Order: sequence, then C-alpha cells, then structure tokens
Amino acid sequence: MTSLTGRRILLGVSGGIAAYKSASLLRLLVEAGVDVQVVMTPAATRFVGPPTFAALSGKPVHADVFEQPDAVLHVRLARRAELAVVAPATANMLARLALGLADDLLSSTLLEATCPLVLAPAMHTGMWNHPATLANKEVLRGRGAVIVGPDEGPLAAGDAGIGRMAEPEVIFEAVRSRLAAGEDLSGVRVVVTAGPTHEPIDAVRYLGNRSSGKMGFAAAAEAARRGADVTLITGPVALPDPAGVQVVRVETAEEMAREVFDRFPECHAVIMAAAVADFRPARPVEGKFKKDAGPPDLTLEPTVDVLSTLGKRKEHQVLVGFAAETVELLPEGRRKLAEKNLDLIVVNEVGRPGTGFGADTDVAAILGRRGEDMAPRAWTKVELAAAICDRVASLIRSV
Ligand code: CTP
Repeated sequence: MTSLTGRRILLGVSGGIAAYKSASLLRLLVEAGVDVQVVMTPAATRFVGPPTFAALSGKPVHADVFEQPDAVLHVRLARRAELAVVAPATANMLARLALGLADDLLSSTLLEATCPLVLAPAMHTGMWNHPATLANKEVLRGRGAVIVGPDEGPLAAGDAGIGRMAEPEVIFEAVRSRLAAGEDLSGVRVVVTAGPTHEPIDAVRYLGNRSSGKMGFAAAAEAARRGADVTLITGPVALPDPAGVQVVRVETAEEMAREVFDRFPECHAVIMAAAVADFRPARPVEGKFKKDAGPPDLTLEPTVDVLSTLGKRKEHQVLVGFAAETVELLPEGRRKLAEKNLDLIVVNEVGRPGTGFGADTDVAAILGRRGEDMAPRAWTKVELAAAICDRVASLIRSV
C-alpha cells in the first residue's frame, strides 16, 4: 500500500512527441496503486497508440466524445477524478484550457471537472515563450493549476532549449504532493499580502519597487487550494485574481496596513509577502509637479512597518515574514525573525537572475522560530508556496 493506492486520477495526453514519456508516468502511477483513467486528444493518438495506454492502465482509453451513445462520458470522467494530470500539455491544450473551450473529450472533461489540475507543458521554445502561452500559463496558475516544467534540453527536430516535458518522476512527485496537500488548511482564515506599494510623489509619479506579486499570489492560490479562507491584499501588480481567493487591491503602505490590521484579529495566519515601501515622500505634491519648478523636494518619512506591528499585537496568529537580501541572508533573516516576533521567515536572495523580484523561481531558505530551518535552495515560487503552507498548517495544528 502507498498513499496513492486506490486514488482515482485522470491522465490526459495531448498531441506532442512527449506523449511517449507519459506512458512512463502512467506506469509509475499504476505501480503506486493509482486507479488511472487515460483520456487522449485525437492528435495524441497519432503519436502513441491508445492500446499502449490501455495495456498499462488495464482499462480502455477514451478519446472520442461520441464513442458512447449517451454522450455524457465527459461528465462521468470528470466526476470520477480526484485529480487530473495532463502530460504532455501542448501550447494548444493550455490555450484551450485557459479559454474554457470544450472541443474534444479531454477539454470537455477538464472543463466539467472541479478536481485539482497538474499540467506538464511540452512544446518548442518559441511556443513556450510566446506571450500568448505565457499569459495562458498565468491564467491557469491563477486558477490553481500546478504547472510542472518545462525543462531545458533536446527538443524535436534536433533543436534544444526550454520546452522539454518534465521527467515522469518529477510529474509523479507533483501529483503525489498535490494529492497529499489535500485540505489541511480547511477552516483556516489566512491573510496574504503581495506586490509592491506605490507611494505618491505627485498625482502621476510614485516611489515603488520591482516586486511582481508572484510569490504572494502563489501563496494565496496554494492556501486556497488547501481549503483556507484566503484574503489577498495586493499592491499594484499585473496578475489575475487567483481562484477562490478574495482579492483586495491597494496602492500605498498605509492602505495595505489598514486592510491587514482590520482583518488581523479574526485571522489565523498572515503571510506577508508584499514588498512594502519603508519610506514615502513626506509631502506629496497635489496635481502634477511641473519641471519648471526645479527638482522636487523628495524628503522621505518612514511608513508603518506592518509586520512589526502585527508581531506586537499577535495572540494566537501564525506570522510569516519575508526578507529580501543581497548579502548575509541567514543572519539577516534570523534578526528579522526575532525582532518582528515571527513564527517563520522566508529569506530570499535578490539581485541575481532567476531569484527574487519578477522571477518564477527563487533561491530561498525558510527559518522557523523553533528551529526546523530549511537551508537555502532553488525553488519555483509555486513549490515554495507549498512548503510555506505545509509549515503554516503544522504550526496552526500545534497552537
Ligand atoms: N514589511 C512590512 N512593512 C514595512 C516593511 C516591510 O510589513 N513597512 C514586511 C515585509 O512584508 C516582509 C518583512 O517585513 O515580510 C521584511 O521586509 P524587508 O524589507 O526585508 O525588511 P525591513 O524590515 O524593511 O528591513 P531592510 O529593508 O532594512 O532589510
């Protein structure tokens, strides 16, 4: 018996060369005792024959909406699945999912399904980097899909680059952890902050920072997936609302502080991922500052430190802070953990490519008040969000 024994998973296969690797994924799932139903797109059946998947899963493979006379096959398949994994997920599949199209059995089934979704994209580099695909990926992630890969490596037609489907073992782990995450934050009220704040200089200009909001949005989406009642208070960012999350959009540190303080007494945890400005212009100009008046007076004054204030007011709440550092990561993290009276701090490296502001990945450590530190390592922000939620769930259970 494994934790996956008897779980009902739908394996969707869309039409790309990586379809042959999803036979290995199917094998891993079956070996772990999973009850797998394979659904293929018509294009996928041209890459790998349905009999291969049927033999490995021990069940007929479905690919045609009209193969059964009652024409509700997609509804039955959707209701049965505890989780759906699409591997490979082509650019076309991501686009259809993002738009909510239902033009074949797999897309119809996934539109009807309410279960968690894991996607393993695979395509040529140009398709992956196309703004349409990147936007579709963000929409799907915002709705709670777990996106695994793609990796860099050899592609079809002798090319190499990003776009190769993640290895079957990695997709298998993502499926396992998504199922294990379950509903461990059910009934928990979580406030998450995200993004930068904009501090007005005049009616059109502001002081801000490079935060994209991706970390906070990932944390909010993950907490909601695990059953939490999540309010996301975000500064100005260009990200869609995550599924099942109440989103409050603010501009300044003062507005963010007010929204967080209002909800603090009633919440169980605060994940403070926002890059709140430490200072703001002391005397913002009314209207637009004119060039002829010479350089403006940019005297700054401190903003309220939201997290330190929460640390002082804290009763039962679990407090998670972030520290963005360029040097002395761990000592700075430990200092902020103690000084702000936090339970956890995520210390991430900023100022290098592939980590910190704007990136999809991070080099980060997690430090806890009672130890159990996790040394710095590379994460996707989605993985890091899952690790933070694991720790929050166990801290709440221990209160
Ligand atoms: N934070 C906050 N309010 C502020 C500034 C920061 O709540 N006015 C929070 C951030 O959301 C983050 C944590 O405090 O969770 C640490 O932010 P960071 O900028 O790294 O630390 P600072 O205390 O501002 O210290 P410094 O900028 O000197 O490193």
